Amino acid sequence: MEKLKGELRALIAGVMPGRENALVFGEGPKSPKLMLIGEAPGEQESLQGRPFVGKAGKNLDHFLELAGLAREEIYISNVVKYRPTKTGKTGRISNRPPTREEIALFSPWLLREIEWVSPQMIATLGNVPLKALTDAGATIGQMHGRVIEANQANRPLFALYHPASLIYNRSLTDVYENDVLLLAKLLRA
Ligand code: URA
Repeated sequence: MEKLKGELRALIAGVMPGRENALVFGEGPKSPKLMLIGEAPGEQESLQGRPFVGKAGKNLDHFLELAGLAREEIYISNVVKYRPTKTGKTGRISNRPPTREEIALFSPWLLREIEWVSPQMIATLGNVPLKALTDAGATIGQMHGRVIEANQANRPLFALYHPASLIYNRSLTDVYENDVLLLAKLLRA
């Protein structure tokens, strides 16, 4: 993995010098039952150098509790490994969704990371990792809550809504929770 990380640092240093020092890599055991893949690190993730801490960590805790899993037994990562930011009129820095170019830049490395981690199953959070790993123009609305076998990672992929999207759409909370329970059932089978 250190060699793989070095290759990504070199790639990012080439296109965005300086950014290679703020990469947030995935964490967790090799050959886990589940590899969870999010979008990109946020502020806390970038500050702490770990995925899914801060507010997103709370969402993750909720997921783990529902699924009956411990953080230590799964591998957690993101498609884009740095925090995408924008600067507002007042100079305030905030998160923005990764661009198509950023997703394309990081996706080949993600595939190699998945290969290295070798999880039994992948769960994607939201549209960004789903689109990075499937060819079809499918959206999370169509694909959530079921196993997608035909995907670029060559292993079963289960699509979930991104927990952050539930804040803005309360009706999705039930859908998300049912999907997580189904995923937990599949992992136990
Ligand atoms: N934090 C992460 O690490 N990933 C996300 O997708 C959102 C917040």
